[in-house]
Amino acid sequence: MSIPEKTQPHGRRPLQSEFNDGRDYPRLGSVSFRRGTLTENQEKTWEEHWPQRGRELTNDPADQTIDIAGWFGREGHPTILEIGSGTGTSTVAMAPLEPDTNIIAVELYRPGLAKLLGASVRGGVDNIRMIKGDGVEVLNRMFPEASLDGVRIFFPDPWPKARHHKRRIIQSGTLHLIATRLKPGGVLHVATDHADYADWITELATAEPLLDYKGWPWAECPQLTDRQVITKFEGKGLQKDHTIAEFLWQRTADNVAEDTPDSVGDGSPSATTVT
Ligand SMILES: C[S@@+](CC[C@H](N)C(=O)[O-])C[C@H]1O[C@@H](n2cnc3c(N)ncnc32)[C@H](O)[C@@H]1O
Repeated sequence: MSIPEKTQPHGRRPLQSEFNDGRDYPRLGSVSFRRGTLTENQEKTWEEHWPQRGRELTNDPADQTIDIAGWFGREGHPTILEIGSGTGTSTVAMAPLEPDTNIIAVELYRPGLAKLLGASVRGGVDNIRMIKGDGVEVLNRMFPEASLDGVRIFFPDPWPKARHHKRRIIQSGTLHLIATRLKPGGVLHVATDHADYADWITELATAEPLLDYKGWPWAECPQLTDRQVITKFEGKGLQKDHTIAEFLWQRTADNVAEDTPDSVGDGSPSATTVT
């Protein structure tokens, strides 16, 4: 991967790669992300447990590829990445039911991660790790091709105004990036309570040739799809009589390198420049 010349984000905006493959990627423009403070207890838990269970995507251009086996201290276990885990309500409810799976939660919002960290520690849930950063950047820069068994995106920000649709995380480029990071047979699971976003996702459902759209439900899905709890955002939607729409895809058996001229095919993250 080429070393980016310009590594500073604009203001508080997270670092953004530039993809030159003709697909659409979320364009966040000048969006600044919620910050928020931690309670004294959360700070204590963070100091004690984050160094082992957490990582941050930084502006350091050095190779940040995650050594999954080293981080979880075990070899050969499936790994699922959850993007936008919020406070981690469903993350920490699902993880004990899939103890043989490594769960990595990605979130921009530190207080959300602090809640998930606290709940994991208190609940003795050992198969969750966390990354603070933008899910698209994390996928692109921290995970090699065909390194993940699953990706989950539950109740992504709907960006309801038409002029903000370009900020939505589900775009043709993100679906392609996810597909390249999934192993053949890997699963992508997305849920939304927002009708317009559901239509948007439906339109893109068959756009990525490396993802075989399975719809919902998919009885033979090899992974847990029940979130076990109603998350804060899911609950807000249900209170407004929103319908929950769920989407499942399976990564095809095709070779990524043959299908994607932009991919480097050596297991390292796709070459991109960072602006
Ligand atoms: C509507 S909330 C849903 C949270 C959680 N999945 C739930 O169901 O309660 C969306 C979350 O995604 C996070 N988020 C938005 N864009 C993100 C990105 N590019 N990478 C990582 N997290 C992101 C936000 O900070 C927020 O916590």
